[in-house]
Amino acid sequence: RHPGWPAELGPLRVAGGTVTVRSIRLRDAAAWSRLRLRDRAHLEPWEPTGEAPWDMRHHISVWPGLYRSLRSEAHKGLMLPMAIELDGRFCGQLTVGNIVRGALRSAWIGYWVEKEVNGLGVATAAVALGLDHCFGPVGLHRVEATVRPENEPSRAVLRNVGFREEGLLKRYLDVQGRFRDHLLVAMTVEEVPGSVSDRLVRAGRATWS
Ligand code: ACO
Repeated sequence: RHPGWPAELGPLRVAGGTVTVRSIRLRDAAAWSRLRLRDRAHLEPWEPTGEAPWDMRHHISVWPGLYRSLRSEAHKGLMLPMAIELDGRFCGQLTVGNIVRGALRSAWIGYWVEKEVNGLGVATAAVALGLDHCFGPVGLHRVEATVRPENEPSRAVLRNVGFREEGLLKRYLDVQGRFRDHLLVAMTVEEVPGSVSDRLVRAGRATWS
């Protein structure tokens, strides 16, 4: 078992309600499938191209296998696959991946939030909680993220939690069937005096609840 897993993060209060982040569960199947199928148009332009068609990849029966493989990566210390909850209800995912130890102590972070509650500060709070977890219990030194330049809402989330832009990765990731440019952003622990969540609270973007 690696440090920081399993995890329960938050709560942080934002405009949309109370945000918590926790390890994924087998019983997330129905909520996960329902939101992923309903919000396809909202999610697909920003996510890696999958091999099977969207509906097949997000059928409720897919979750148990996916859950088990993510949990096994988590047990090996390679990943933190988490669910985002708003007022106790599953509303998205926050994933920390490619956790590398040793002299690098680095990982990437990624997320999605259901369309219905967008613009209410949910992703911003979830990413702040995730970063504090990475720099605290998990013991990482650097967290990075990649985002398409066209993804204004996600760029706002990254900017608002304090990520710094490092450059443009040309034709980086296969998204919607083509290799797309992505901006690389990063943060190291030295850039976080106190905590990222505290910084959000001080900026008036969230409150501890
Ligand atoms: N142009 C500029 N800014 C915008 C726009 C727009 N068209 N739309 C929204 N925003 C801003 C909002 O105003 C807000 O910023 P503010 O707080 O400074 O006003 C910000 O974007 C959104 O912040 P939140 O409310 O915290 O985010 P939300 O809970 O709505 O989730 C997310 C944002 C995760 C990007 C969601 O829309 C989503 O799941 N999109 C589809 C999947 C996706 O893009 N995931 C991220 C991929 S990149 C990565 O994982 C690193």
